[in-house]
Amino acid sequence: MSILELKDVKYTYHNQYQSVDALKGVSYTFKKGKMYAVVGKSGSGKSTMLSLLAGLDVPQDGEIKYEGKSVKSMDLNEYRRTKAAVIYQDFKLFPLLTVVENIMYPMELCKVKGSDAKERAKELAKKVALPEALFNRFPGMISGGEQQRVSIARALSMDRKLILADEPTGNLDSENGNNIIDILKRLAHEDNCCVIIATHDLGIVEKTDVVISIVDGTIAEIKENNV
Ligand SMILES: Nc1ncnc2c1ncn2[C@@H]1O[C@H](COP(=O)(O)OP(=O)(O)OP(=O)(O)O)[C@@H](O)[C@H]1O
Ligand SMILES: [Mg+2]
Repeated sequence: MSILELKDVKYTYHNQYQSVDALKGVSYTFKKGKMYAVVGKSGSGKSTMLSLLAGLDVPQDGEIKYEGKSVKSMDLNEYRRTKAAVIYQDFKLFPLLTVVENIMYPMELCKVKGSDAKERAKELAKKVALPEALFNRFPGMISGGEQQRVSIARALSMDRKLILADEPTGNLDSENGNNIIDILKRLAHEDNCCVIIATHDLGIVEKTDVVISIVDGTIAEIKENNV
């Protein structure tokens, strides 16, 4: 089932001196239950595309629809809190919150009752294989791979079906990177999420269902992997 539809999406960065056309007309439909890789040279437009899909900004031209509804017409804060989850290369955990508190954070923004949020946070931590001994530690006291798993659990907390990851394994060794990809793949294939990963890592690319190559702000090639 389709979840996100892009129609001739264009995005230009402007500053005082120059403009950069980062996306020059991208059309594509993403489906639930699949894991996608977005690949392309540095500067090709991968992060720009992910940030538009995440509702961090809106395209100047063209349209993005989430489950048939134009994202532009939605409350973007609400969209980010309840529909699109983002996993960052540098994790972006809150250093003064514990592992469980980090995972609870989006639920608190959405006013989920404290005790329910805590219960759910612990379930999510287990889902991404974080041992209980880590639950009350601060991010600075766990490994990079563990931090990335916390950020994935946090991304899942509002049961969002769209998971966007920008270089999620860029700061991890290959074993931890593979574990993360296996978790993301299960989310796509078992929990029917749509997982979209921008990456340079060929090891990840071959594990995804569909590979979208971006060249200079447009989709140059789409390849289905038979996984
Ligand atoms: N804040 C910004 N202001 C102006 N131009 C920008 C800005 N962010 C990105 N760009 C430009 O937009 C284009 C697309 O950048 P983007 O970050 O989407 O590329 P990318 O494919 O994610 O690259 P990388 O692999 O290096 O992360 C590039 O030409 C880049 O220089
Ligand atoms: Mg990028």
